[in-house]
Amino acid sequence: MSEEKSVLRDLNLKNDDELLLRPQTLNQYIGQDDIKEMLSIYIQAALKREESLDHVLLYGAPGLGKTTLAQIIANELGVDIKITSGPAIEKTGDLVALLSTLNAGDVLFIDEIHRIPRFVEEVLYSAMEDYTLDIVLDKERDSRSIRIELPPFTLIGATTRFGDLSHPLRERFGAVFRLSYYKLEEIKKIVRRTSLVYQNEIEESAVIELSKRSRGTPRIANRLFRRVRDFAEIMTDTVITLEITELALSKLGIDQKGLDASDYLYLKGIVERFNGGPVGLESLASTIGEEPGTIEDVYEPYLLQEGYIKRTPRGRVATELAYNLLGKKYYKGLLEN
Ligand code: ADE
Repeated sequence: MSEEKSVLRDLNLKNDDELLLRPQTLNQYIGQDDIKEMLSIYIQAALKREESLDHVLLYGAPGLGKTTLAQIIANELGVDIKITSGPAIEKTGDLVALLSTLNAGDVLFIDEIHRIPRFVEEVLYSAMEDYTLDIVLDKERDSRSIRIELPPFTLIGATTRFGDLSHPLRERFGAVFRLSYYKLEEIKKIVRRTSLVYQNEIEESAVIELSKRSRGTPRIANRLFRRVRDFAEIMTDTVITLEITELALSKLGIDQKGLDASDYLYLKGIVERFNGGPVGLESLASTIGEEPGTIEDVYEPYLLQEGYIKRTPRGRVATELAYNLLGKKYYKGLLEN
């Protein structure tokens, strides 16, 4: 990246809290240690060989830092990054336009890559494999095609739905990483870092409380931090205390475990309307008035990981933990055993 561009980028960062929060290097990035270790090796090797980095696929729940990691990879490689998303690529031409802006070694980041239309995806195969584009000019008449040579580049794909990715696409990524939910200690570090970036003092007990309720997700931790900071600034001066944190989070409807009204609606849906399940995704979605995709991507991963629900071949089932949370008697297990 040119010096001018990087200065400009730094200036932009200073103007934007949201971006300032994003770590810029692997060293600044907290958590996902296994991924960082592997990435660091691949990046150093690519730099040493003066080659572009192999294509990377990042998958995991929303808010875990896939975009941040992609930006860090570009930064560490010292190249530009072009950012787009699956839904923004509707036609082959959209992809060609993007690819033709790339310089040697650059990163193309495609978020929600599972949502690229299949016929566009097929164009991507040769672009990934040997940096060429084969474009059919006139399908109707004589299906002439032209070949465009591309500079070597790195595709970084991100998805919340690994399973929705076609096999041919998956196979073209040289490195595939699954981001996990963060450990409590890691979220605490991120919250402390955020308090430094925002220059808001926060009590250690408040750091712990906020972190516990962030569902192992940095984006949520940072969002809650901003809300708690609003309360602190209005109520006292700028120090974020435990008392203010508890008050703010309870006003936001976030319980001790970090579950909110939507999680409760979801769990009550299974327990009260479907007698604990099993229930199919579509039926549950229409009962609680939520998109099936949102349920699968946003609510369920955390509820599954924490053991409130199980996914069985016949549908979703609420566990004893969910019944306890809702203060209801659990008798399913007795019937099943
Ligand atoms: N802010 C958001 N995610 C982060 C991470 N993983 N490390 C450091 N700061 C972050």
